Amino acid sequence: MRIAVVGGTGKEGHGLALGWARAGQEVVIGSRAPERAVRAAETINAAVGHAAAVGMVNREAAMAGEIVVLTVPYDAHEETLRDIRDSVRGKILVDVTVPVDLEKSRRLRVLPGGSATEEAQALLGSETRVVAAFQNISHTHLAREGGVDCDVLVCGDDVEARQEVIRLAGLLGFRGVDAGPARNARVVEGFTILLLGINRRYKSKGAGVRITGIEGPSDD
Ligand SMILES: NC(=O)c1ccc[n+]([C@@H]2O[C@H](COP(=O)([O-])OP(=O)(O)OC[C@H]3O[C@@H](n4cnc5c(N)ncnc54)[C@H](OP(=O)(O)O)[C@@H]3O)[C@@H](O)[C@H]2O)c1
Repeated sequence: MRIAVVGGTGKEGHGLALGWARAGQEVVIGSRAPERAVRAAETINAAVGHAAAVGMVNREAAMAGEIVVLTVPYDAHEETLRDIRDSVRGKILVDVTVPVDLEKSRRLRVLPGGSATEEAQALLGSETRVVAAFQNISHTHLAREGGVDCDVLVCGDDVEARQEVIRLAGLLGFRGVDAGPARNARVVEGFTILLLGINRRYKSKGAGVRITGIEGPSDD
């Protein structure tokens, strides 16, 4: 599997890309600047000890990926999606974006489109299947090998695409949980704000979510 990480020069994208490279996947790092993308790919290759990653500008990275993961701040969400729209047609786009309001003590922004995920789906159209995942996973967890004791909630309107992303989470050592349709991303994105507050109060860096009381695969 060739996984493109658009915005893969940042903290969250780097952690995801490194994890997938460690799991034997090919990784394409995307950036607005090709030299930053190449540098980020070299860092990953040095860490895993083989040429798992290459770096390109975002649009080319999205074109090269069989599945595309978006890890940019919400302020850059719409602009980046417009840039890669043609490159992701027919693919799964995994949206990791949390619409944090940085000016108002890290509150959730109220979005006209409901959630970043729903906005991405509306902008990209039905030929691209948008799946929300990893919003509740701190980059500090991703740096560690083998995942940690928390789940990845996976939302999106396409059941098969959700299953594919659950598999991607498994490659990183996380249990992916089928969290239903794209509108549920409003809850998942919002939950990250809760976790950020818990981190502050408990002086922690990686509070996470664990769903209890479920066994086996979901049935829809
Ligand atoms: N950090 C976490 O622990 C964490 C956890 C869960 C979810 N998330 C979410 O994941 C996303 C990325 O988080 P992050 O912490 O990795 O962010 P980040 O490091 O601030 O940014 C990621 C990358 O986005 C690109 N970028 C930044 N500003 C941009 C702009 N104005 N226009 C276009 N591209 C821009 C940059 O790449 P280039 O400059 O190379 O183009 C940057 O390296 C956010 O939506 C965040 O809420 C983060």
